[in-house]
Amino acid sequence: MSRQKIRKLPEAIIVGARKSGTRALLKFLEINPYVSPARSEIHFFDKPQNYKLGLDWYRNKMPMCYEDNLTVEKSPAYFVTKGVPEKIKQMNPNIKLILVLRDPVKRLISDFSQLIANRIKAANEESDNYQHSGDYRVSNDTAKELWEKAKQEFKTYVLRRDGGIDDRRSAIKTGMYSTHLERWLFQFNLSQIHVVDGETLTKNPYEELNRLERFLSLKPVIKPEHFVYNQQKGFFCISPSGIPRGGSVNHPNGTSLCLSRSKGRRHVQVDKNLANKLSRFYEPYNDYLYSIIGRRFDWTIY
Ligand code: A3P
Repeated sequence: MSRQKIRKLPEAIIVGARKSGTRALLKFLEINPYVSPARSEIHFFDKPQNYKLGLDWYRNKMPMCYEDNLTVEKSPAYFVTKGVPEKIKQMNPNIKLILVLRDPVKRLISDFSQLIANRIKAANEESDNYQHSGDYRVSNDTAKELWEKAKQEFKTYVLRRDGGIDDRRSAIKTGMYSTHLERWLFQFNLSQIHVVDGETLTKNPYEELNRLERFLSLKPVIKPEHFVYNQQKGFFCISPSGIPRGGSVNHPNGTSLCLSRSKGRRHVQVDKNLANKLSRFYEPYNDYLYSIIGRRFDWTIY
């Protein structure tokens, strides 16, 4: 008898944090055939216009899967958006929550670099619109100039006039992880929240994926040989033996599967003193985070 496929509300959600490796985590988790990931970020709980469409709308955004598969969604904005933990609890108080956290200074630089990369992309698109031939792009020199200017812009972005860190900036606030986590702990037990170290995920994905499989009570299927380091990309990719079968990815046989170019992109250069200052700013938030979760991370990068 053939088994029926259904759509289920997610039983686990990657709630954040933005630019910490959330896509890599979900892509790698999919190596496990019992995992059915939503293809895109749904933003059900953080965007009121989506939330008002109700749980049936949300369920319809989930993939078709077998009853015993685990449906997983990721929307990193959930972590920092007020009211989201309450809404998720209302849907399922026993849900499993996954939080990827990375050195907050690196996260901030990544977030800001995305802004610059998007600006260059928009400039490219604009120049294409104006050119009949369509082959004119923002020159390398212009892109270089924009990255150079971004160095100064980053400084103005993160510092107040008096030289202190501007903690009103949302990109700065995102990295104050313990502050956000506290809000989640009003609604959920710590045992329901699994924290993934984004730095280890980058250097040794197997270690974090193995822990995650155990947290999700999945049969541990993911192996070290499912990952292969790609020199050119500078990150781990999924080796041919780990690529999920069955329609989820359209990928040439025999090659490894890396994340798209927007993951692992160029970063704005940050002056060492400023990076140190940011590290010191985040230190008390990190220490508090470690005391909450009972695990320390080696985030002393600068
Ligand atoms: P950068 O692009 O700044 O390097 P998110 O998916 O949450 O937006 O996170 C993006 C970050 O994931 C990337 O930031 C990159 O550092 C990190 N990452 C971790 N493992 C990766 C991998 N295997 N391939 C690409 N990016 C990875």
